[in-house]
Amino acid sequence: MKSCSAMESTSCLKFSLMSLIWIIVLMNEMHGYKGCLETERTALLEIKSFFISVSDIGYDDEILPSWVGEDDGMSSDCCDDWEGVMCNATTRRVMQLSLNNTRRLKYYDRTSASLLINMSLFHPFEELQRLDLPGNWFTGFYKNRAYDSFGSLKQLKMLNLGANFFNDNILPYLNTLTSLTTLILSDNSIEGSRTKQGLANLRYLQVLDLSGNFNITSGSLTRLGLANLTNLKKLYLDQCGITTIQGLANLTNLQVLVLSDNRNLTTIAHVGLADLPNLKALDLGYCGITTIQGI
Ligand SMILES: *[C@@H]1O[C@H](CO)[C@@H](O)[C@H](O)[C@H]1NC(C)=O
Ligand SMILES: *[C@@H]1O[C@H](CO)[C@@H](O)[C@H](O)[C@H]1NC(C)=O
Ligand SMILES: *[C@@H]1O[C@H](CO)[C@@H](O)[C@H](O)[C@H]1NC(C)=O
Ligand SMILES: *[C@@H]1O[C@H](CO)[C@@H](O)[C@H](O)[C@H]1NC(C)=O
Ligand SMILES: *[C@@H]1O[C@H](CO)[C@@H](O)[C@H](O)[C@H]1NC(C)=O
Ligand SMILES: *[C@@H]1O[C@H](CO)[C@@H](O)[C@H](O)[C@H]1NC(C)=O
Ligand SMILES: *[C@@H]1O[C@H](CO)[C@@H](O)[C@H](O)[C@H]1NC(C)=O
Repeated sequence: MKSCSAMESTSCLKFSLMSLIWIIVLMNEMHGYKGCLETERTALLEIKSFFISVSDIGYDDEILPSWVGEDDGMSSDCCDDWEGVMCNATTRRVMQLSLNNTRRLKYYDRTSASLLINMSLFHPFEELQRLDLPGNWFTGFYKNRAYDSFGSLKQLKMLNLGANFFNDNILPYLNTLTSLTTLILSDNSIEGSRTKQGLANLRYLQVLDLSGNFNITSGSLTRLGLANLTNLKKLYLDQCGITTIQGLANLTNLQVLVLSDNRNLTTIAHVGLADLPNLKALDLGYCGITTIQGI
């Protein structure tokens, strides 16, 4: 091994110091780099393109403007800088995605607004725990096979599909998302009339919001599989079309039951509140109830 001679020692020392400094700088860069995964970054940009492609012309600059690619001249970290994206601090993988009211249309027109969404867009996000997609005028999912529609979303705990036009056709797909603890389906067109299993498989579900689905009728509660969801703690059924609440007596863990604004709901005798020992809040505002027994 060639060592530094006395004559060369100064420059030799300089060289070694320089190398050391470079190594430190490089290690710092690697350690300090906290961008999200490249595959997830690419997938996010695909989602942005999708929302632009299904919006009206003229809104491109208003749709997820903070989601910019590398080639836009600035470095931007999708975990820290992109709106609606939240990553796991350790793995830097996307944990939550909020795509509220992301699709932009000039005016409300139900027929021309209808749109299927391809859930494969979300397959790369294997650590996704929460997905918000409210207010985007979606009518259904592209017909992937039901069992792989949600692909690798094995950790999804909360799914918010509120304020869209989804109907019973999505129920077989949702019924495969057994990791869910919260499901928001408010203000859609779910009826529960055309479903075999409903949501009966979602046994870990604790919060279910079906409010504002005007055509959910009483018989639908059973068809929707609600009686099987014995871990439910909060159930929102306001502004549906229900007239009786048959099928809820098995939900012994229920703490909050909202039934308001069901004008033709005249009795809750079918449940017998003694069946719901954990009930803390019961909302019967704007119902047609005239007598209450068994409280
Ligand atoms: C982030 O990921 C780590 C490693 O997988 C995991 O232990 C931790 O629970 C995650 N954090 C959250 C908030 O999910
Ligand atoms: C998205 O909407 C839901 C309610 O539907 C709300 O709870 C959530 O905070 C919203 N997310 C953002 C980022 O505004
Ligand atoms: C859905 O997206 C996946 C992946 O992006 C693609 O392979 C598939 O063809 C798409 N399906 C439809 C019906 O567009
Ligand atoms: C409820 O059903 C009626 C009659 O079939 C239909 O006209 C209406 O659009 C439905 N409403 C919703 C919110 O699905
Ligand atoms: C729902 O409950 C009924 C009655 O206990 C049972 O026969 C059925 O297998 C359950 N369905 C699911 C999907 O767990
Ligand atoms: C509801 O409870 C009744 C009485 O305990 C039982 O016979 C029935 O199978 C239960 N239904 C479901 C869907 O678990
Ligand atoms: C209540 O029932 C009546 C008679 O069946 C029906 O005409 C009316 O539309 C119902 N109202 C609601 C809010 O469902």
